[in-house]
Amino acid sequence: MSDAVLAIDQGTTATKALVVAVDGTVLADAEQPVPVHATGDGAVEIHPGDLWESVVSAGRAALASAGVPVRAVGLANQGESVLAWDQTTGEALTPCLVWQDRRSAQICADLRPAGDRLAAISGLRLDPYFSAPKMRWIRDRMTGDGVVTTTDTWLLHRLTGEFVTDVSTASRSMLLDVDTLEWSDEAWELFGLDEARPRLARSDETIGATGAFGDTVPVGGIIVDQQAALWAQGARERGQSKCTYGTGAFLLANTGDTPTRSLAGLATSVAWRLAGQARYCLDGQLYAVGAAFAWLNRLGLLAGAHEIEAVLTATPHSGGVVFVPALAGLGAPHWQPDARAAFLGMSLSTTREHLVRAVCESIAAHVAELAGTVAAELSQPLTTLRVDGGLTRSPAFLQLQADVAGVPVVACHSPHATAFGVADLAARTAYGHGIAEVPSAAAVEPRARAGWATELIGRWRTAVTLTSNWSTL
Ligand code: G3P
Repeated sequence: MSDAVLAIDQGTTATKALVVAVDGTVLADAEQPVPVHATGDGAVEIHPGDLWESVVSAGRAALASAGVPVRAVGLANQGESVLAWDQTTGEALTPCLVWQDRRSAQICADLRPAGDRLAAISGLRLDPYFSAPKMRWIRDRMTGDGVVTTTDTWLLHRLTGEFVTDVSTASRSMLLDVDTLEWSDEAWELFGLDEARPRLARSDETIGATGAFGDTVPVGGIIVDQQAALWAQGARERGQSKCTYGTGAFLLANTGDTPTRSLAGLATSVAWRLAGQARYCLDGQLYAVGAAFAWLNRLGLLAGAHEIEAVLTATPHSGGVVFVPALAGLGAPHWQPDARAAFLGMSLSTTREHLVRAVCESIAAHVAELAGTVAAELSQPLTTLRVDGGLTRSPAFLQLQADVAGVPVVACHSPHATAFGVADLAARTAYGHGIAEVPSAAAVEPRARAGWATELIGRWRTAVTLTSNWSTL
């Protein structure tokens, strides 16, 4: 038998599958898109059948291309997306409500009096982003049948028959006591949820076995996707952080073995729990990054993400245009689920390239704001920003991010950091050790003139403030 594992990164808009040898070599990769339906009124849904098919077909394609057997299958999941399903048949009873779905905003508003208590228990700010408000919305508006869980529990049940989630995914629900790492009866009651609760697994344990990809293989190494990328980026010590540019962008900083509460509105979560060891993190998020480029593409303003490099290289400034990236509301530290996106500062000379650049600048500015907030919260200056995900394929974007954040940016050796993280955890279940570390790319140093980033971030903050009450005007 070869020494390799299959890592499945089940993300919002695609499922990626990598076959990774324990020496770190990628033997094969495959990707299957997942259609996401934004149908109005804040609804963002995925058909569960598409989700399942994407996992099976990406996994099978990667294995067929690698041509070697694997000793374990690991699964990273998209975090806060939920659905109702039948525990007997495994059939889905509702669409998946994606983490971007805003329809539970009223549920959050109604629960506001309990917001401080829920934050004390879970470490999370009451917001439709997290799982529990969407679970409540499914119960109120869709079905009282079956069980409502995050997508990992459903996928793992279909793969192995087990009823399980891992502690890092549970820590994104608002239903986990982030201090004891057990489900909180009080939080479940505050949300009025009376579900069967999945067993809370470690991220380095074998869950069961599956024949879904061909030969029966153990399933082990389960974790929420952002934490998988934090693991892959080697951010194992307090103060080390990473930012992943995916459908959204997610900046996570390791806070060591205590669940540090944020004064500035960052989320407190479990980074991972391995045998005998739990680590925590603070995180902040942009809800639309890849989603913003897909939106520009639908409007005919961008041919595809591959065009970003050419636009940034040819367009050194945005012509005074500023973008507020609130296409799905604003996350930390703003927490405005009703915020709306806006282009400001356009004139007759504004070009589509200015608009695309303004979107890129807004992403870089929001990430820089989060990085500054994390550094202040941890009283530890950020010396390097580790990054991964699709946007890191653009050297011009990496330069922009370094210039705006004012620190060197180091890209992961692979845009598939999440899959590498889960491959490492899967290898630990099979071999008792992880996969070999692969070096990161060279640092991209900031080179903008003094004051440039301060001006850009200042203009961006002004635009966010100007539009922040849009939905109530
Ligand atoms: O919190 C949602 C996030 O984990 C989804 O990640 O990779 O699908 O953008 P991604």
